[in-house]
Amino acid sequence: MATKPVFLIWGGEGWVAGHLKALLESQGKEVHTTTIRMQNREAVLAELEKVKPTHVLNAAGSTGRPNVDWCEDHKEETVRNNVIGTLNLADCCFLKGIHTTVFATGCIYAYDETHPIGGPGYLETDKANFNGSFYSETKAHVEEIMKFYSNTLILRLRMPVSDDLHSRNFVTKIAKYDRVVDIPNSNTILTDLLPASILLAEHKETGIYNFTNPGAISHNEVLALFKEFVRPEFTWKNFTLDEQAKVIKAGRSNCKLDTTKLEKKLKEYGYTVPEIHEAYKGCFQRMAKAGVK
Ligand SMILES: NC(=O)c1ccc[n+]([C@@H]2O[C@H](COP(=O)([O-])OP(=O)(O)OC[C@H]3O[C@@H](n4cnc5c(N)ncnc54)[C@H](OP(=O)(O)O)[C@@H]3O)[C@@H](O)[C@H]2O)c1
Repeated sequence: MATKPVFLIWGGEGWVAGHLKALLESQGKEVHTTTIRMQNREAVLAELEKVKPTHVLNAAGSTGRPNVDWCEDHKEETVRNNVIGTLNLADCCFLKGIHTTVFATGCIYAYDETHPIGGPGYLETDKANFNGSFYSETKAHVEEIMKFYSNTLILRLRMPVSDDLHSRNFVTKIAKYDRVVDIPNSNTILTDLLPASILLAEHKETGIYNFTNPGAISHNEVLALFKEFVRPEFTWKNFTLDEQAKVIKAGRSNCKLDTTKLEKKLKEYGYTVPEIHEAYKGCFQRMAKAGVK
């Protein structure tokens, strides 16, 4: 008989981690969380020994507060968390034969001549080409090495969106800005994608997956749907990328990811992820139903 899965979530106090925990609990799964620093090898090994997980879900890392600009001024800390820590945890899990799912980022690309707006999305095999932010740089470098661990599944999220207006939600962020750029991007609607992450982890899938809803959606399209379904009185103003550059320290990645590999894999398990415009409608309808304003 197959062993009953035991999940251990790293970065236990984080935003994505909280969603994962709630989801696993709702599915009646055994789930533990930890806040042990990933770079502390002895403590990581001791925690793995104590909990004896069959699956580690790594949702830990420096994301910066209030945003990724923080990483520009805290480079050593960012390297220790996003590179040394992330690799150490993958390595410890490898040595103990534990499957690991890493909640990584797709913010490692930028539109270019071969991947223009409206053109083909970036594949999992494409080399990272966005080096405008130190956060993204650390994430791209660590992925290059981590992908060699045969026990590891790497899921590239982008601009994650929850069904509430939590401060980490991409919609909350852009709804609060004085001005927003208007560029199509791949986004991850957590309600659609997190169940898929559990499915892939349980089947011990490995390798890299672009982990977003299919397609790309512009900021204005997102905000228009937000206005239609959630906040009718909402208005917003746009500005250009050049104007945006004056008010941020680190650059922000804008790109579309190709989700063909993910869609094909999930089809094997009878799971479908809705196209991004449809997914946003569903998300905002759930918000409206729950009375979120
Ligand atoms: N939110 C996004 O926009 C987004 C987009 C794409 C990908 N992701 C990725 O998804 C993952 C989760 O993101 P999130 O939004 O949930 O971030 P979050 O709310 O900032 O949570 C990350 C958690 O990781 C912990 N952490 C940081 N360094 C650690 C270390 N070395 N060892 C152990 N724990 C550590 C943090 O704890 P402390 O606060 O105590 O340091 C925090 O509780 C991250 O890897 C992030 O890069 C996020």
